[in-house]
Amino acid sequence: MDERLWSAAAAVLAGNDAGGWTRAAPHLYPHQWSWDSAFVAVGWAHLSVPRALTELRSLFAGQWANGMVSHIVYDPAAAAESYFPDPARWGTGVAAAAPDRPTSGICQPPVHALALAHLAEVADRAATRPAGPDRTGGARDDVDRVDAALVELYPKVLAWHRYLATERDPQGSGLVSIYHPWESGTDNSPRFDAALARVEVGDLPPYRRRDTGHVADPAQRPSDAEYDRYLWLVELLRRAGYADDRIAATHPLVLKDVLFSAILVAANDALGRIAARIGAPAADRAVIAGWRDRGRAAVDACYDPRLRLCLDRDVRAGTPVRCRTVAGFAGLVAGGERRSELLAELASARFLGDARLRWPVPPSTSPADPAFRPRTYWRGPSWPVLGWLLWRSLGSLGEHTAAAALRAASLEQVSTAGFAEYVEPFTGEPLGSPDQSWTAAVTLDWLAAG
Ligand code: SER
Repeated sequence: MDERLWSAAAAVLAGNDAGGWTRAAPHLYPHQWSWDSAFVAVGWAHLSVPRALTELRSLFAGQWANGMVSHIVYDPAAAAESYFPDPARWGTGVAAAAPDRPTSGICQPPVHALALAHLAEVADRAATRPAGPDRTGGARDDVDRVDAALVELYPKVLAWHRYLATERDPQGSGLVSIYHPWESGTDNSPRFDAALARVEVGDLPPYRRRDTGHVADPAQRPSDAEYDRYLWLVELLRRAGYADDRIAATHPLVLKDVLFSAILVAANDALGRIAARIGAPAADRAVIAGWRDRGRAAVDACYDPRLRLCLDRDVRAGTPVRCRTVAGFAGLVAGGERRSELLAELASARFLGDARLRWPVPPSTSPADPAFRPRTYWRGPSWPVLGWLLWRSLGSLGEHTAAAALRAASLEQVSTAGFAEYVEPFTGEPLGSPDQSWTAAVTLDWLAAG
C-alpha cells in the first residue's frame, strides 16, 4: 500500500467535501455532479461508509418525480457566477417532474447502483476481516447502515432505471436515448461531431462561459462552436418543457448511447443483487433481469466488426457513429458476447498497444482516429475514471491479468500526474482541473484492491 498516495487522495476528497456531498472539482465544478458523485462514493467507502451513503442520499434528494437523476444538483449557497450554465439557464420550473431544489434538466450515465453494490461489498469485507487495521471503524454497524440505506435507496434507483428503460427507450430496444452530449459524460467526444454539426443554432440568448477560466489553456476544453450548440440544445429542451415524448419527437440530437446503455446493463446487474439482498419482490427482480438481458443483447448488436468496437446509433441520421473512442468498449462493460474481439482491440496499437503512450491506460479517443487531439478533453486525453470502469469490468469478466495490468498502469499515472481530471496520453501532463474528486476516489479503490 502506498500510504503517501492514499493520504493525498483522501485529502482531495476531504478538501472537496461540502458536507454531505462532494464538489466534483474545487473550482471548475463547484456543484454535485451525478456520475461523479457515484464514483466519489466508491472512494468515500474506504474512508467512511456513512459518508459514502450520505453522498448518494444527497444526490437522490434531487431526483425528479419521473425518476430522472439530474446531472447536476446545484449548491444554492455557491455564487451564481461560479459555474455556467446556472439553474436559471436550465429553467427547470417549466417541468412538472422537476424537484424544488435547483438541478439541471438532463441526466448522466447510471453508475449509482454500481456504487451502492460496491459499498455493500466494502462493508461486508471489513466486517468479516479477522483482525488488523479497520479503516472504516465500526464494521458491523456499517453493514447495518448499508442495509438500511439499500432499503431506502432501492426504490429510488429502481425508478431511475425504469425512467431510462421506458422514457429514454420508448421502442424497448435496450439502448438509451440521450439528447445532449453532456448526458454521455464524454461531452466533446468525436462521437457527437456529426450530430452536432447538423444542429443549427437559433436565437440563442447571450451567455458567458466560466469553464475556460479554470484551466491553464482553453484548448483543453470544448470549443466555442461546441458550446453554442450545447447551449442551444439546452434552450430547446427547456422550450420542450423537458417532456420526453416531445423531445423524442422534435429534438435535433438524439443518440442511442452505447456506453450509457452498457453502464445501465452493469447497473441493472448490480441492482438485481441489491434487490436479492434486501428481499425485494420477485416481480421487481424479473423486471430488472429483463432490462439487463435486453440491454446486453442490444449492446452486442452495436458491435462493428470492421472497427472491432461497439458503436452509438445516431437516431436522427439513422446510422451508426463510426469513430474509435473508449466508448467502443461498451461490450466489456455490459459483459456481452464480443469479449475476445474487444479485448484484442483494446490491446492493439490503436489503444493500449500504441508505443507512444506514456502509460498503457485507455485514451478517450484512439490516436488512430482522425479526430484525436491529445490535450482536448474527451478527444484524446486519458481519464482515470474511465480506466477504473474498464478495470472493474475486466475483473467482473474474470480477465484478471488484463485488469491487474490496467490497475498498475493507472496507479503509476496518478502517482506521477496527480489527481488531474484528465491526462495527456503521450507526455503524462496533467490537464483540466487539479484535485478532481473522482480521480482521487478511484485511486483509493485501486489502492484498497492491492
Ligand atoms: N461536463 C460539463 C462541463 O464541463 C457539464 O456537465 O461543464
